[in-house]
Amino acid sequence: MRNFREIVCALVLGVVAVGCHQGMWNKSRLKPYEASSFFENGQSTRALPEGVVVFGDARIDTHFYQGKVNGEFATTYPFEITEEVLARGKERYEIYCTPCHGYTGDGNGMIVQRELKKAASHTGDARLLDPAQSPPGYFFDVITNGFGVMYSYATRVKPEDRWAVVAYIKALQISQNAQMADLSAAEQEEVRNPSAHAEGDHEPEHEEH
Ligand code: HEC
Repeated sequence: MRNFREIVCALVLGVVAVGCHQGMWNKSRLKPYEASSFFENGQSTRALPEGVVVFGDARIDTHFYQGKVNGEFATTYPFEITEEVLARGKERYEIYCTPCHGYTGDGNGMIVQRELKKAASHTGDARLLDPAQSPPGYFFDVITNGFGVMYSYATRVKPEDRWAVVAYIKALQISQNAQMADLSAAEQEEVRNPSAHAEGDHEPEHEEH
């Protein structure tokens, strides 16, 4: 074991060495808002050039980020709505919107059933069903900025997912208001007589052992 003197010396040297090191680090740097004689205006903090944005965050696409085209609510989607997008929209809708708007979009979610103000019916409100009055961009705007007592979902649902949710609500509007006549003859027949078509279509759920 080392003797006491050696240990004390090592400690003292160590402290001195660390001190030097810190000193060199701390010198010659300006604290935020500290004055500096280097620039003409005396400020050490440089103003950002006009129009600069955080890298990768230039939200200039108003269609995608605000749901607006030329200041009007967009009547189209900023990207193609595929089956995959709809599936994503369904998933996000069921996480974020069903508590109030319900699984079918009728505005009677569990929270509403308990006591909150009835949420809008996506599938029964004539204004929301009318694409001229409530185009996709309008729904996008409600999710982004909230509406009445409904708060904004901007921090929870990212723009791409908001569009997916809008597309899914539009699908709910169609499905919840569908008429027999909207289906093809073959589909109508399948609805009327499901057992004849189910046979052979599906694998049995459990195999017998
Ligand atoms: C906590 C409950 C709640 C949740 C969750 C919720 N909403 Fe709402 N929403 C409401 C209520 C309540 C209203 C009616 C607001 C009012 O009239 O003051 C409403 C209204 C709306 C409207 C109709 C606006 C209009 O013009 O009448 C839309 C569209 C809408 N919500 C979409 C959504 C979507 C999409 C989601 C999921 C991302 C969602 N909401 C989640 C409660 C909710």
